[in-house]
Amino acid sequence: MVELALAFIGRIELQMRIAVYPGSFDPVTNGHMDVITRSSKIFDKVIVAVVKNRKKTPLFTIEERMELLEKAVKELPNVEVDHFEGLLVDFIKKKNAQVIVKGLRAISDFEYEFQMALINRRMNRDIETVFLMTGYKWFYTSSKIINEAASLGGNIKGLVPDLVYQNLLKKYASVEE
Ligand code: PNS
Repeated sequence: MVELALAFIGRIELQMRIAVYPGSFDPVTNGHMDVITRSSKIFDKVIVAVVKNRKKTPLFTIEERMELLEKAVKELPNVEVDHFEGLLVDFIKKKNAQVIVKGLRAISDFEYEFQMALINRRMNRDIETVFLMTGYKWFYTSSKIINEAASLGGNIKGLVPDLVYQNLLKKYASVEE
């Protein structure tokens, strides 16, 4: 009975347009939220996939990054938060998704994103990368820049969801202690 139900869900998922929005989200910014909200209107389901990258030392742990994202997307019913390690194309296949969503900011993003889209396409020709132009308000912001400004006491209100703002203040207050 359970197997039948799972097979049924699997078949429905195969018919759905599922997009994966991958990233470090360390932490999620309003630029990310803009891409998530807009892609949730285009696709049946959007999976925000937080990468567990062993090479980088993130400011927020994977659990913290996922919790902040889950709270930030709670009003968007067709958006879910997950995490992955290893190749993005493998995760996409496991999730029965067909599309990678990426936000594209200023020109500097282009070369890297072009390379990623081509290597991912080479590894799996059934997966397409779709780029959304970042909203003009977020053109020059990134988690990295926001983290740096916050660490130096700069005002980053309005650049990240309110909860993230509070958490960034707490993080840097505890670093100074
Ligand atoms: O927010 P970021 O750090 O720019 O996100 C980068 C991310 C997670 C999208 C990228 O590093 C990625 O896809 N990593 C998974 C490994 C992979 O599949 N790489 C592409 C082929 S080498």
